Amino acid sequence: MTSKIAILAGDGIGPEIIAAAEKVIECLRQDFAFAAELEPAAIGGAGYDQHGQPLPEQTLDICKQADAILFGAIGGPQYDGLAGELRPEKGLLNLRSSLSLFSNLRPAILYPQLASASSLKSELVAGLDIMIVRELTGGIYFGGPRGIREREDGSREGFNTMVYAEHEIERIARSAFDIARLRNRGLCSVDKANVLEVSELWREVVDRVAEDYADVTVSHLYVDNAAMQLVRAPRQFDVIVTGNLFGDILSDTAAMLTGSIGMLPSASLDENGKGMFEPVHGSAPDIAGNNLANPLATILSLAMMLRYSLQQPQLAELIEAAVGAVLDQGLRTADIAAGASSVGTREMGDAVVAAIRAAGGR
Ligand code: IPM
Ligand code: MG
Repeated sequence: MTSKIAILAGDGIGPEIIAAAEKVIECLRQDFAFAAELEPAAIGGAGYDQHGQPLPEQTLDICKQADAILFGAIGGPQYDGLAGELRPEKGLLNLRSSLSLFSNLRPAILYPQLASASSLKSELVAGLDIMIVRELTGGIYFGGPRGIREREDGSREGFNTMVYAEHEIERIARSAFDIARLRNRGLCSVDKANVLEVSELWREVVDRVAEDYADVTVSHLYVDNAAMQLVRAPRQFDVIVTGNLFGDILSDTAAMLTGSIGMLPSASLDENGKGMFEPVHGSAPDIAGNNLANPLATILSLAMMLRYSLQQPQLAELIEAAVGAVLDQGLRTADIAAGASSVGTREMGDAVVAAIRAAGGR
C-alpha cells in the first residue's frame, strides 16, 4: 500500500529541515521498497503568504486525505504584527483541533554521545528516556469563554477557561497507559488538583482508568512539584501524562534536560493513530536559510511516523540507528557542537542517508 504523506514545511528553518527528511524518504523508497506519495502544502506564515490563511483550506484537505503529516516549523518576526486569527500559530492550533490530534507524544531522550550538552550534571541525566504525553486539543488552549473585555470601571480584563470533559481525560489517559505498557510501566499524571476543580476531575478519571491497567504503576504530582522533580531527579519518570498547558511547559523543560532541543521529535495522534509528526523546536528565524539548522529532530519525527502511523517499525529503527551512527561518527550541527567544528543541515541529512544505506547493505 502506498502511504500518502502531507509535507508541511512552513516557515523559518522549516523548508531546510524538511528537505533533509525528504531525502531520507527518497532513500527508503529507492532502497527499502517504501511506497510513499508526498503532498506538499502551505501552513503558517507560508500559508498566509500564499493563500491569506495560516491554515488554507486546500492544506486542511490534503492533511485530511493523508495517512500522516510531516510538519516543519512555523512563525517568524514578519508575522508578529498579524491579527490573532491570521498568526502562524493559529494554523498549527487549528490543524491539531480540526484533525482531533489529541495525544501529543514528546519523548525526551538523552543521546549518550551528547551527555555533556545537558544543562544538568551528566550523572543526573545519563540514560534519560522520558515520554511526555500532552493532551493537545482541549484545556485552556481551546476552552471558552475566552477574550478581553471591559469591566464596569472601564478597565479591561483578559480571561480564559481551563475545561476538560470526562471523555477527553479518559482518552488521553488511555493513550498514556497504552504507551506506558510499551515502556517501563510507570505513569505519572500531572495536575494542579490542590487548587483547580478541572484537575480534581482529571485525577479522579485517571485513577478510574488505572483500574484497567493494573500492570502500570500510577503516581500523581502537582505541576509545580513535577517541574521541580524534572530538574532534580529526572530519571524517576517513565511516562508523564498531563493537560495541554502544563504539557507545553513541562515538555520544554524536559527537552532542555537533553541539552539539544534540535534532536527531539514529536507525534500528535488521533483516535485511530493517524498523526502529525514534527520537531519539538521552532522555526528559528535567526538562522533560517543558512544551512545551520539541525535536521535530526525532523528525521526522528519521520521515524515516529513510520512507527506510530505507518506500521513500519523496522524502517523507524533503521532511521534511529542511522542517527546514532552519525553521532558516533562525530558529526554535529552547530546547536550540538558545543563550540567544536560543525556540519550544515544538508551535510547532516546526507550523512544520515549514507548511514541508512550502509546499514541496508547498499
Ligand atoms: C508547542 C508550541 C505551540 C504550543 C505554539 C507554537 C502554539 O509551543 O508546540 O509546544 O503552545 O502548543
Ligand atoms: Mg511549546
